[in-house]
Amino acid sequence: MDKFDFNGKKVLVTGASSGVGREVAILLSKMGAKVVIVARRENQLKNTISLMEGDGHSYRVLDLADFDEIIVTLKDIVSKDEEKFDYIAHCAGLAIPIPLRSMSMANISQIFSINTYSFMALLKCVAQKRLFNDGGAVVGISSWAGVDGQAANAVYTASKGAIDAFMKSAAKELIPRKVRVNTICPGGIRTEMLINQVVKNYEGEKIEDLPDYLMLPDKVASIVVALLSNSMQCISGVAIKVDEAKNWE
Ligand SMILES: NC(=O)c1ccc[n+]([C@@H]2O[C@H](COP(=O)([O-])OP(=O)(O)OC[C@H]3O[C@@H](n4cnc5c(N)ncnc54)[C@H](OP(=O)(O)O)[C@@H]3O)[C@@H](O)[C@H]2O)c1
Repeated sequence: MDKFDFNGKKVLVTGASSGVGREVAILLSKMGAKVVIVARRENQLKNTISLMEGDGHSYRVLDLADFDEIIVTLKDIVSKDEEKFDYIAHCAGLAIPIPLRSMSMANISQIFSINTYSFMALLKCVAQKRLFNDGGAVVGISSWAGVDGQAANAVYTASKGAIDAFMKSAAKELIPRKVRVNTICPGGIRTEMLINQVVKNYEGEKIEDLPDYLMLPDKVASIVVALLSNSMQCISGVAIKVDEAKNWE
């Protein structure tokens, strides 16, 4: 069996309207998966579909801020074609730098809803045998900053640290079903998220001025897909730091 073969497998990719999620969806389509992509921006989802290979892919407009709606949507997707999911790549995320003095319940809740609670809702679906097949895998994108901390970004980093902790327990609970659960913790990636932050934080700085050591989203996508694949059958319950070699010095 080809350990990188996703033929006949159904995969959900969140955050596939841009950045890493889009690259994950494209790569999985090339590897034979039937991919369902979700995000809020419909036009961008359609763009992603147009870049994918093969047939049978679909998109759903979904706001991941709504815990219950995530579960309703996954149930609906499964009931439509009567095929359960085999894999989930949770790539959606929201990064808003907030200094400690500016924290409010509203902005904490917004960031946790999208980064953390949505991951919990997805794992609730995974735990339901009628929605998710045994033997599959889930990968969530956390953040290097969630492991190490980052000034003026405590809320975002906590929301990411929380998914790492949640993932470890979920991985243990899903052992009987042979479902693997992991997260990756990337450093800087050259995507809309970072570009928006840089422009906001350092007014006047150009995108071209972003440092060379930032990872390209397709590189991160290949790590996500490898971790989903059967080639990583012995890895579960692990948060893996990933970054360009420069940052290892
Ligand atoms: N870029 C970095 O430097 C970096 C570093 C470490 C970790 N990460 C993590 O990597 C992951 C991918 O981010 P990226 O860099 O690819 O950024 P991106 O291009 O901004 O992608 C973020 C994705 O999340 C989706 N999203 C945001 N809010 C949502 C909501 N309420 N409902 C549904 N979808 C929502 C966006 O889709 P819509 O706007 O269409 O809804 C978009 O597809 C994120 O989890 C991020 O935290 C990024």
